[in-house]
Amino acid sequence: MNSSKNIKVPNGFPDGFLWGGATAANQYEGAYMEDGKLPSVADVQPHGVFGYPDRNAKYYPTHEGIDFYHRYKEDIAEFAEMGFNVYRTSVAWTRLFPTGEETEPNEKGLEFYDNMFKELKNRGMEIMITISHYEMPLNLADKYGGWKNRKMIDFYIKFVTTMVNRWKGIVKYWLTFNEIGNNIHKMEWMTAGIDPLNDTLQDCYQASHYQFVASSLAVKTIHEIDPKAKVGSVIEYKTIYPMSCDPKDSIVVMKEKQRGYFFSDVQIRGKYPRYTWEYFKDNNIEIEYTDEDMEIIKKYPVDFLSFTYYRSRIASKDYIESVQKETNTSDKEVEGDTSYRGDSNIVNTGKTNHYLKLTPSGWSIDPDGLYLALVDLYDRYQVPIFVAENGLGIKEELVDGTVNDTYRIEYLRDHILAMKKAIRSGVDLFGYTWWGPIDLVSNGSGQMSKRYGFIYVDRNDAGEGTLKRYRKKSFYWYKKVIASNGEDLSD
Ligand code: BG6
Repeated sequence: MNSSKNIKVPNGFPDGFLWGGATAANQYEGAYMEDGKLPSVADVQPHGVFGYPDRNAKYYPTHEGIDFYHRYKEDIAEFAEMGFNVYRTSVAWTRLFPTGEETEPNEKGLEFYDNMFKELKNRGMEIMITISHYEMPLNLADKYGGWKNRKMIDFYIKFVTTMVNRWKGIVKYWLTFNEIGNNIHKMEWMTAGIDPLNDTLQDCYQASHYQFVASSLAVKTIHEIDPKAKVGSVIEYKTIYPMSCDPKDSIVVMKEKQRGYFFSDVQIRGKYPRYTWEYFKDNNIEIEYTDEDMEIIKKYPVDFLSFTYYRSRIASKDYIESVQKETNTSDKEVEGDTSYRGDSNIVNTGKTNHYLKLTPSGWSIDPDGLYLALVDLYDRYQVPIFVAENGLGIKEELVDGTVNDTYRIEYLRDHILAMKKAIRSGVDLFGYTWWGPIDLVSNGSGQMSKRYGFIYVDRNDAGEGTLKRYRKKSFYWYKKVIASNGEDLSD
């Protein structure tokens, strides 16, 4: 007879837990036209423009980024000093295929990553690559309308095949699309190369459909070329609370959550969930798909789920209805998002959650929301889970060559405790990468001043500064945490 008395409840992070940081090529590499590279969709997004391209601006923060392209050795040495055993970044598509249409890759671009990966491996880090992180070739957006076009699948798979052939046995983890759901009337330019001023909800979901097919074909390709590699999905997860105990608010929450789950449901369960068809019907969306597409999606689900988590939201029926009335639409994402199309202190109801503190840019700080996210996602899918991004972006001043960022330490500590609690609850969590371990360009606002790093970079929103790096207080704190595998969280 068995007894539950002997079953062990995990009391900490498992051995081999992955600790590190996450970045994206366009937000820090710079060198945007060097060694054969051509512009990506990110390279026409100026500072302060929330998700919209502008070809006539005076200054584009991605063009120089923080010059990681020329300083990667020095920066990777700093990551190693903190003890990272994993590093997540993306490969700029435009370094390998500058227009996306070339038949042969650009050798110079491949060489840059050969060298960078060698540096990471030599310093004991596993490499996790986001295949597409907001940086498809500008040419593919201009010429083909981005992911609205089925042709994108072939361009993407050519890019994937080139990378896996080159880096099999070197890159262990691949993520197919960063925050795949953000196509949907949110960051459609950056995620899918779709013109945000002239698109429809139909365009956005059609683009997602092609991305699903491409993602599944990427899983197939990667497994065939490098059977030991693992492929994951990245969704943006926002824990959502109902505004009140009015059941109608909970129904709104359920529907909002389904709009998010849709992406992981398809990528993990291998089929369109039933609630999608109701949503498509109600919003006059007609996806064009073939039986073969659906077979591919079914046959090649991802191996694991990763997600980005920064904050939670609250939702209410009244607020959603009032915004829909005001904007005369039933399809736009109803969200007052401080990083995108607005700059106010509101969350999903137009009201702040008074149980939570907010960052100066209005993002709620909610570690319990991370615990809820982890348990919710694991209960839903039962696949290994990875926290691909989490972080605190804030304006900071360098004082005496450092930043005394105790607030970042507090934020990180609380989120680590939330992960520990989730592991105790049985969640199979295998790693965590802090967003922006070194200050970099904000995706939402193009600001340098929204700083996430453990390392300060001397550069401002106008592109001025020496680019010199300085360790913040949190640098030493994270180092201690990693060395103790998440046990030592003292000051
Ligand atoms: C995530 C993105 O949504 O949020 C990153 O994957 C981004 O690219 C991060 O930088 C933080 O957002 P922001 O707008 O503060 O840069």
